[in-house]
Amino acid sequence: MIVAVIGSTGRTGRPLVAELLARGHSVRALVRDPAKLGDLATRVTTVTGDSRDPATLDHLLDGVDAVVSALGPTGKEPSLHTETARALLGAMHRAGITRFVGVSGAGIDIPGDQKSISGKLISRLIQTFGGDVVKDKLAEHRVYADSDIAWTLVRPPRLADGAATGRVEHDAHRSTRSTRITRGDLAAFLVDCLEQELYVRQAPFVATQR
Ligand SMILES: NC(=O)c1ccc[n+]([C@@H]2O[C@H](COP(=O)([O-])OP(=O)(O)OC[C@H]3O[C@@H](n4cnc5c(N)ncnc54)[C@H](OP(=O)(O)O)[C@@H]3O)[C@@H](O)[C@H]2O)c1
Repeated sequence: MIVAVIGSTGRTGRPLVAELLARGHSVRALVRDPAKLGDLATRVTTVTGDSRDPATLDHLLDGVDAVVSALGPTGKEPSLHTETARALLGAMHRAGITRFVGVSGAGIDIPGDQKSISGKLISRLIQTFGGDVVKDKLAEHRVYADSDIAWTLVRPPRLADGAATGRVEHDAHRSTRSTRITRGDLAAFLVDCLEQELYVRQAPFVATQR
């Protein structure tokens, strides 16, 4: 597949790009600074710009089959995810692309969830003290849920730098037993969702097994 990657220079984005390339996909990577891709820069097509900019997204999506995002705010951008979602949906419609896989967070509640007691408690704390980022992720979910595309918003717990272990647990609505995931496992799971059409129009929890 030819895959557009948003957030490609981030701590999850770089292993995500590496995983896609390792599985034989071609990547069009949205970057603000191509140098941040390191050695990967020579192996992908880069498109420079902001994830909220329609013209940038039109360029990014030229000829691609699907979009995967590991976007995250790096400053005070209280509605980065929601604004990006709205702009991206417009660009996807214009380009005729229907598949999107992105990263949300385990602290977000979605109708149908069957969180454990500790999962509910952690979510309550995250929603109380998480500020704008958490509100933004809740709003982002509503934007995709109201759309007609085949979206998946993966909900990981705490991210830890580290390679893929290949040992992940995941479920559409039940909390994971583990409360952490390596960024390598998250990257691999995003690609699994893309390749295997997993959790379409759902927001699965995923974690590295304890
Ligand atoms: N930290 C946790 O424990 C945790 C838990 C659950 C979920 N999450 C979520 O997991 C996701 C990935 O996290 P991470 O720590 O791997 O992310 P990260 O290292 O902070 O990377 C964020 C990426 O988004 C890009 N970006 C930010 N604003 C942009 C804009 N306006 N236009 C284009 N690109 C932009 C950054 O580009 P630059 O390199 O140019 O800055 C970077 O590539 C985030 O959504 C985060 O909220 C995190």
